[in-house]
Amino acid sequence: MSLVDRFSLDGQAAIVTGASSGLGRMIAGGLAAAGCAVLVTARREAELEETVRLVRDRGGRAVAASADVRDRGHGARLVDRAIAEFGRLDGVVLNAGMSTGAPSEDEDLEAFAEVLEVNVTAQVALASAAARAMIPAGGGWMIAMSSILGTRAGTGGGVAAYTASKGAVEQLVRELGRQWAPKGIRVNGLAPGYFPTAMNEPITNSPDRRAQIMGRIPLGRAGAAEDIEAVTVFLASDAARYLVGAMIPVNGGMSCS
Ligand SMILES: NC(=O)c1ccc[n+]([C@@H]2O[C@H](COP(=O)([O-])OP(=O)(O)OC[C@H]3O[C@@H](n4cnc5c(N)ncnc54)[C@H](OP(=O)(O)O)[C@@H]3O)[C@@H](O)[C@H]2O)c1
Repeated sequence: MSLVDRFSLDGQAAIVTGASSGLGRMIAGGLAAAGCAVLVTARREAELEETVRLVRDRGGRAVAASADVRDRGHGARLVDRAIAEFGRLDGVVLNAGMSTGAPSEDEDLEAFAEVLEVNVTAQVALASAAARAMIPAGGGWMIAMSSILGTRAGTGGGVAAYTASKGAVEQLVRELGRQWAPKGIRVNGLAPGYFPTAMNEPITNSPDRRAQIMGRIPLGRAGAAEDIEAVTVFLASDAARYLVGAMIPVNGGMSCS
């Protein structure tokens, strides 16, 4: 196999969560363009169908399956559906996420717990279900979505739930990577900086906050689809076959200082 061929995902199949918008939609498009069939999932069905259409426009193969990741059974159902659709499951991208904002002296514990449920527990639910299918089939790959806030404090109002959840994701990447590498599954993660998605609308729509963020990005621009999809394809591919437990900072240099 040539070096370039090792970046191909031809013949593979994966599940991408949080694929109704933002980074998940970008990642689904990138994986599919590299040859990987994708089961795209989130709650909003019309937006998922738009993701399917965008993937197909690029010549890729995609199927939509709506699910709420707070439903503890969602992982097993998505794995079964992917295998029914594609006959195999090589990878999962654990991307669905949410945030709340409040100064922590006013922390709403129900909201805090929901962020941990969506950003952490739900990732474990799908990862475990996928591992149960992948291990007997010979292995696979998983990519979990952290954030630059997985290793540092926020900058604006309070984001304790979000930072705690992303710190947990990074530890999961290391722990699941350690447990499952001997069983053939490579677990790695992405830690994006600033991509102007729906989650970041409060920043994008505030000239002051946007200028503040841009001032922290040495490359001088926000992240774009091409930036996240290429790194994701790399982590999914044979080219990354010796990477386990790695967190890739996709942030234009925000974490350099
Ligand atoms: N944008 C950035 O700069 C940035 C930086 C660092 C990390 N991240 C991370 O990247 C991931 C994607 O975020 P984004 O920026 O692309 O934001 P986004 O456009 O708001 O996407 C969030 C996705 O998560 C899904 N989701 C949320 N709650 C869900 C639930 N209960 N069940 C199923 N799906 C759910 C949403 O779909 P539905 O609403 O349709 O269910 C949506 O597809 C998150 O984990 C986020 O923390 C983003």
